[in-house]
Amino acid sequence: MTYKHRAIIDTIPGYKQGKPAPAKEGVRTYKISSNENAFDPLPSVVEAVAGKAGRMNRYPDMRGWAVVERLAERYGVEPANVMLGCGSTEVITMLVNLVAGPGDEIVYPWRSFEAYPLIVAGAGATSVQVPNLPDGGHDVDGLIAAVNERTRLVIVNNPNNPTATSISDADARRIMEAVPSDVLVLFDEAYFQFNTDPATSVAMDLYREYPNVVVAHTFSKAYGLAGLRIGYAIAPADVVEGLGKVALPFGVTEIAQTAAIASLDAQDELDERVRAIVAERDRVAEALTAQGWEFPKPYANYFWLPLGERTDEAARVFEDKGLSARVFSGEGIRVSIGEPEACDLVIEACAELKARGM
Ligand SMILES: Cc1ncc(COP(=O)(O)O)c(C=O)c1O
Repeated sequence: MTYKHRAIIDTIPGYKQGKPAPAKEGVRTYKISSNENAFDPLPSVVEAVAGKAGRMNRYPDMRGWAVVERLAERYGVEPANVMLGCGSTEVITMLVNLVAGPGDEIVYPWRSFEAYPLIVAGAGATSVQVPNLPDGGHDVDGLIAAVNERTRLVIVNNPNNPTATSISDADARRIMEAVPSDVLVLFDEAYFQFNTDPATSVAMDLYREYPNVVVAHTFSKAYGLAGLRIGYAIAPADVVEGLGKVALPFGVTEIAQTAAIASLDAQDELDERVRAIVAERDRVAEALTAQGWEFPKPYANYFWLPLGERTDEAARVFEDKGLSARVFSGEGIRVSIGEPEACDLVIEACAELKARGM
């Protein structure tokens, strides 16, 4: 059927969800395509969520005050500076809808989180994609040069998805000094808990120093709540007020809010899991370096293998091992750090790729 619609929608490629684990008779297979947390949910979080199941006939607290107050306390900000969303994807969507429409530009690195172009096009605004440097990091000079009078938002993704690179505090400050103070700069830090780069930028530090910083965090990754959809922004109070006007009413469920609070209560246990994932990531990275691979040093719960035109061939080797990683045809493969057994298979698969001359 043909129907009347906005022409810009035809330019949106559509979000490609990470593939499920490949089906292989009698063999355990692994999904390492969505940067999820491979640990099972904490029993205390499952119990808290189950305790709320009987309330599903009621709408949630739309503002999520209980979570907002906990987060405000944790970061030393006011509740008026915290906004929840259905994952940080919704937070980013709200922010773009708040600041940009037709004729406005949003500057961001590319390749980066694949939702950015969809969100920008959805708002009818224009994406200005600044290609990453050959090492996979943000081209800071390029980002700064792309800012003009039409710019409404600059996005920094630290660590960057999919290249897993970290941006330094010095580089982030260069961006902040160059961008006019009435243009917002979003620091998307979905994976910051895994960032072990001693030189990394810390968006909350910048938030305290500059008037135009918005920080986006999520409970999906380090906290393992991807399936419940809850993330948040920390932003100046007038920005949070604006976000509230474009938010999906009642979007963040009571179950998600409950799980977030139970997770904040279990911070020590979750931190231990983060340390285990980081250790596993470093083990894999060391093994691959020993095999002779050159790839960006990873600072997230995934790493990036730049394979260029042999990407699809490499993906088939991964699949034969029972691994579904995230494949960017012609560019490379993003590999999430999953269970240790999955990581062992990743190391095996990469050895095989090396043997094929990749
Ligand atoms: C860089 C980045 N930002 C934001 C998100 C959004 O995550 P969520 O909507 O689950 O919070 C993701 C998810 O993959 C991501 O990779």
